[in-house]
This record gives sequence, structure tokens and C-alpha cells, in this order.
Amino acid sequence: MSRNLIIAANWKLNKGPADAAAFLDAFCVAIKEFKGSADIVLAPTFLTIPSVVAKLDGCDRIAVASQNVSEQESGAFTGEVSTAMLSEAGVQYVILGHSERRSIYGETDAIINAKVKKTLAAGLKPIFCIGETLEEREGGKLESVLTTQITDGLKDVADLTDVVIAYEPVWAIGTGVTASAEQAQDTHKFVRSVIANLYGQSAADAVRIQYGGSVKPANAAELLGQPDIDGALVGGAALEAESFFGILENSSF
Ligand code: PGA
Repeated sequence: MSRNLIIAANWKLNKGPADAAAFLDAFCVAIKEFKGSADIVLAPTFLTIPSVVAKLDGCDRIAVASQNVSEQESGAFTGEVSTAMLSEAGVQYVILGHSERRSIYGETDAIINAKVKKTLAAGLKPIFCIGETLEEREGGKLESVLTTQITDGLKDVADLTDVVIAYEPVWAIGTGVTASAEQAQDTHKFVRSVIANLYGQSAADAVRIQYGGSVKPANAAELLGQPDIDGALVGGAALEAESFFGILENSSF
């Protein structure tokens, strides 16, 4: 089963419209030379999304993601942004369950599950993040933590066709420490087996599982060359057009 790679830039709380425009000025030139087939996604802040979408006119093959969404439809929910608003703005993917949302903003598996369902119902594609802390890994809880995150986060989600999973070990995010290609491959294989148990083998064979956590041009080829790693969710190394493009270049074998 061949799965097309999906490589996404998670800009987190960086880049207002002016910085995003400067990135795209460089990136849209570089991308013309890109020979690979990977799907490319940029996830700016909510505020920056409209200017990025506008700039992508004439810069093909790049999709836009948001970094979060409300599980509510509309109404008295101060500070929230709805799926309908994201669709209207031209967003296609929504990053959900990122470890920073889980640990800093207290998002539980139940909240993430509500957001995943809302996102799918709106015709948007969740990039559903899971991952263990170092303490959990060292305490032998890797498999139980990931199984719970997957089972509860995807509860009542019948079809995974539009779901991308991002496995991001928390200890590798923003730390410069990357899981070894072997560690990442083993864990991706495990995640795929959990999906097979829940959804059957053909859904497991089809679902794309990105790796995230200190991916950079120097380690991208080895990580992306693993059989169960279907892309990358990139933070720090996606802030500069040159290094994000360097990751893409290392994705076309
Ligand atoms: P990083 O972040 O590449 O800076 O480790 C990845 C992420 O948090 O998605």
C-alpha cells in the first residue's frame, strides 16, 4: 500500500501576516523546483490564515491548516473560531490534540474527540496528534498511553479516510532531541496496529501517520524513509522557507 507523504509546517504562535508573506515569497519560488509528490500543508495562526490563503493564489499545491478549532458551532463562546469560519477562509486541515494544547490548555481526549468529530462533519481534515511524555515512555506506558489517546480521541469516528495521525513524542518536540528512526518506526508500527484493531487492516494500511518532534533537513530522509512514517509535522524547522523546503527535498527519494 503506498501512502502519499504529507509534510506540514506548524507555525505555532509565530508569524503574523507580514512574516508569513516573507516566508511565502521565498517558499513559492523554491517549490517550483520540487519534484516530489508529498502533500504540503502550512498551519499559520488563525489571524494569519486569510493572508496566507490569498498569497497561495498562484503558489500551487500547498494546503492550509489551522492549529485548533472550536468544538462549538456558534454563539457565546468568546475567543473561539468555528469550523464553518475555517472552511469559509479556505482551510482544509485542522491540527488537533497537539501536546501543547493538551498540556498547556488542558485539552482532554474527550474535548479533542469533540473537535475531531466537528472537523470531519464540516468536511475538514483533522491532523490528530498523539504522543507520550518521557516519563510515560520510561515508565513502560508508551503503548497504553497511545492506545487511550487513539481510542478516546477517535471515539465514534467511523471512517478514517480524512484523518491524518501525527505521532509526536512530547520529549522530542522543540527539544532538538529526535526519536531515532528505529524508535519512530517501531512506534508508528504500533500505532498502525492499534488502528487495525479498531478499524480493520485496510483502514490501517491507508491511514497516514506523520512523525513530529525536531524534524529537520538533516534527519528528514532517514525518518521519512521508514515504512510506517508517512510524513512530518514540523515546528521549529518550518519557520524558515529554506529549512522547510530542505525537509521537502529530503522527502523525494
Ligand atoms: P518541533 O515541533 O519540530 O519544533 O519539534 C513539532 C511540533 O510541535 O509539531
